[in-house]
Amino acid sequence: MTTTLPLLTGSRATEPVLPADPTMLPDAARAGLATTPFGLYVHVPFCATRCGYCDFNTYTSDELGPGANRSEYAGTAIAELRMAAEVLGADRPTVQTVFVGGGTPTLLPAHDLAAVMDAVRELFPTAPDMEVTTEANPESVTPESLDTLRAGGFTRISLGMQSAAEHVLAVLDRRHTPGRAVQAAHEARAAGFEHVNLDLIYGAPGETEADWAASLDAVLAAPVDHVSAYALIVEAGTRLARRVARGELPMTDDDVLADRYEQADAALQKAGLSWYEVSNWAQDDAARCRHNELYWANANWWGIGPGAHSHVGGLRWWNVKHPAAYADRLGAGLHPAADSEQLTPDDQALERIMLGLRLRDGLPLTALSEAGRARAAECVVRGLLEPGPHTAGRAVLTDRGRLLADAVIRELTD
Ligand SMILES: C[S@@+](CC[C@H](N)C(=O)[O-])C[C@H]1O[C@@H](n2cnc3c(N)ncnc32)[C@H](O)[C@@H]1O
Ligand code: SF4
Repeated sequence: MTTTLPLLTGSRATEPVLPADPTMLPDAARAGLATTPFGLYVHVPFCATRCGYCDFNTYTSDELGPGANRSEYAGTAIAELRMAAEVLGADRPTVQTVFVGGGTPTLLPAHDLAAVMDAVRELFPTAPDMEVTTEANPESVTPESLDTLRAGGFTRISLGMQSAAEHVLAVLDRRHTPGRAVQAAHEARAAGFEHVNLDLIYGAPGETEADWAASLDAVLAAPVDHVSAYALIVEAGTRLARRVARGELPMTDDDVLADRYEQADAALQKAGLSWYEVSNWAQDDAARCRHNELYWANANWWGIGPGAHSHVGGLRWWNVKHPAAYADRLGAGLHPAADSEQLTPDDQALERIMLGLRLRDGLPLTALSEAGRARAAECVVRGLLEPGPHTAGRAVLTDRGRLLADAVIRELTD
């Protein structure tokens, strides 16, 4: 899953940054370009159908309307990549990671995604060990398309499995069978993918402890070196939220979600996958998602595509949301940013805590305010932060603290 970044209310740039000229990135934002890890995110805003729980910026053919279509999308995304390379100019940093997310990237022909990667390599210096991930829906890949993606430079695939229980997949409106995700993981390994992740969701209405145990067993029997497990969020405005509001589906309670998390952590740890972020487990350091680590470290990334967010040296901007508006902007030679904000030092300090505390390594106590440090000491007493690292100057969540990560973050921020 693409990491959801907290939206901050920093001081807004006085004017939206629209023209694609190098002044878009002020000197202050450029200052750390050479020394800060840099990644590219490419958003693919298309899905075959919309899952009832999902409020991501994605469109089915029916929802899309005129002015944008899938067959032209790779070309439009490449136009923004070209613009990014122009704006960065001589400061163009080496790309360490690329993450193609969605939507359903694999709804595009695999050679379109490979063409986007060709453009990345043509326009930017790239690291020899560049991590290139695509998200994929299990039913939208084949052995042939996986071969094409691998040959196009993709090294990592993240498949949305969600559950091994048929009735849970039905509640979530997923289109694949329980076994298809595991089969796709095997196909990805056969195609030579170095890293394979399966995404799971727990806490769906009607999911039992046995269903969740079966999902974990299925994931662990698959050839994966990374697992992400997310509690189902009932997002306002989704079909799922309407069904819950009408009383058609029960809302899972927080104690059950905590039990499911503990169950997942125990099963994954037992199988040799360790947590390195609250919702992410990896077989070893090499299997961690370096692109997400770059977000969590608040490094630099350029987000390509409608609605994509970017962050370079404290300047954040986000693109127009609709694919047709996005294509229009690029067609007219304009940068697709809708608006931007300059993060203040306070905003940046807050982000560092919100992102850093969810990591296994936690964060230095010096990142907290004086009041935050006093509350961190209380959290140690209450068993939410580890005492050893605290004595050594770090705030690191305990197992119990992980269950209450959001509440601990609220406590440690003023
Ligand atoms: C947005 S999807 C994109 C990849 C792909 N389309 C898929 O469904 O796997 C990335 C991940 O976000 C998860 N996700 C989306 N909405 C969610 C929600 N409301 N609660 C928890 N996970 C969610 C998906 O299930 C998926 O595993
Ligand atoms: S397939 Fe993925 S991106 Fe598309 S609607 Fe479902 S969860 Fe959202």
